[in-house]
Amino acid sequence: MSETKALTALRGRLLWFVDDPEAAGDAAHRYIEDGLLLIEGGLIAAVGEASALLPTLPAGTHVADHRPHLIMPGFIDAHLHMPQTQVIASYGAQLMDWLNRYTFVEEQKLGQQGHAEKLATFLLDELLANGTTTAVAFCSVHPQSAEAFFTESERRNTRMVAGKVMMDRNAPEALTDTPESGYSDSKALIERWHGRGRQRYAISPRFAITSTPEQLAAAGRLAAEHPDCHVQTHINENQAEIAFARELYPESADYTGIYEDFGLLGRNSLMGHCIHMTKREWRAFAQARAVAVFCPTSNLFLGSGLFDWARARHEGVRVAVATDIGGGTSYSMLRTMAEAYKVLQLQGQSLSALAALHAITRGNAMAIGLDHLIGSLETGHEADVVVLDPAATRAMAHRLETARDLAEELFVLVTLGDASNIVATYVMGAPVIPGQARSA
Ligand code: GUN
Ligand code: ZN
Repeated sequence: MSETKALTALRGRLLWFVDDPEAAGDAAHRYIEDGLLLIEGGLIAAVGEASALLPTLPAGTHVADHRPHLIMPGFIDAHLHMPQTQVIASYGAQLMDWLNRYTFVEEQKLGQQGHAEKLATFLLDELLANGTTTAVAFCSVHPQSAEAFFTESERRNTRMVAGKVMMDRNAPEALTDTPESGYSDSKALIERWHGRGRQRYAISPRFAITSTPEQLAAAGRLAAEHPDCHVQTHINENQAEIAFARELYPESADYTGIYEDFGLLGRNSLMGHCIHMTKREWRAFAQARAVAVFCPTSNLFLGSGLFDWARARHEGVRVAVATDIGGGTSYSMLRTMAEAYKVLQLQGQSLSALAALHAITRGNAMAIGLDHLIGSLETGHEADVVVLDPAATRAMAHRLETARDLAEELFVLVTLGDASNIVATYVMGAPVIPGQARSA
């Protein structure tokens, strides 16, 4: 059948990871100065030196020449909110106040005909324009918000993970479901979307504050019934939030204990923020293999605090990184990692460019359990690819005049980069033009 599958090749400077630079140093990455990526049927069929692969290409293979640009696996964003694209940059509040004053107001609009579709289309355009090919998204409480997001993602053939938020208290009436409807609406969405094409479902109780014990129990039941689904929620972001959660669940050992008590802390669990963690909580995360999701721009913008990545590593806790749009202030994973660097600097920690680029590709793919499919340029992976021009802006080109090696060039890219540096984004080997919907 391979004759019928289109062959495409991308030529440029290839960069990807086979291990964590923090653990394996320079052995963690692969860099080919003049490389070729051969794509067949949407998958990476071969990767290597252009000089070795070019003579082997069948006649008629289309070669997109991206020299001297960098070609990397598409970026992965482990946590964002699809209903919050018009909440970004809302002034002057910390978490609980920000939720009530801005977020819950905007999220109600997703009950209106056509609004979820508008936001889903915008978000997917914006992610692809920033080189992000996979995201883990909270939708609103309305099942049609997840339906709209998956429909738009399926149309573009992007690999997305998403779920309808479950919330049955401490939110406006129009934004609440019930333990029963939250369960049955989520289950119907799982049956319809989980594993359909490239779409995957995340069971999404918003956080302990907006769910009754009955609803967290229903979410835990869903997780037990669908062990292949992801689970996503929020935890230990803000002191007032923590105090309120502890008040609502006095029987639980601590905030992490709440999710443990309802079967929501496991290896598929993506736990947003994890800023204010006790020793016991770090241990519980390590034991459960749960993932702490670091959201630097959001944590700074909402004044939530500094994520302690060194501590997570020391405790053996898996970490993902994310924009957390719209508490977060940028769609760019490059910009996100620039802020991560500063958050770590404030704690006497460091983050090399290679570690940052690993985090937003293979690192996040591992955190969401999809590293066999995405986040790499190794043969057999899905050809979700981003092409980057590190000298895209005047200021970056100027700065790069003095860069001596790849590590320095990449550090400039991570520190100053954003959507301006994205030359092209490929989804399953097909180029997508930012701002334009892909024709089916
Ligand atoms: N905690 C519960 N909901 C949210 C949200 O939408 N954003 C952030 N940053 N934290 C939350
Ligand atoms: Zn969030």
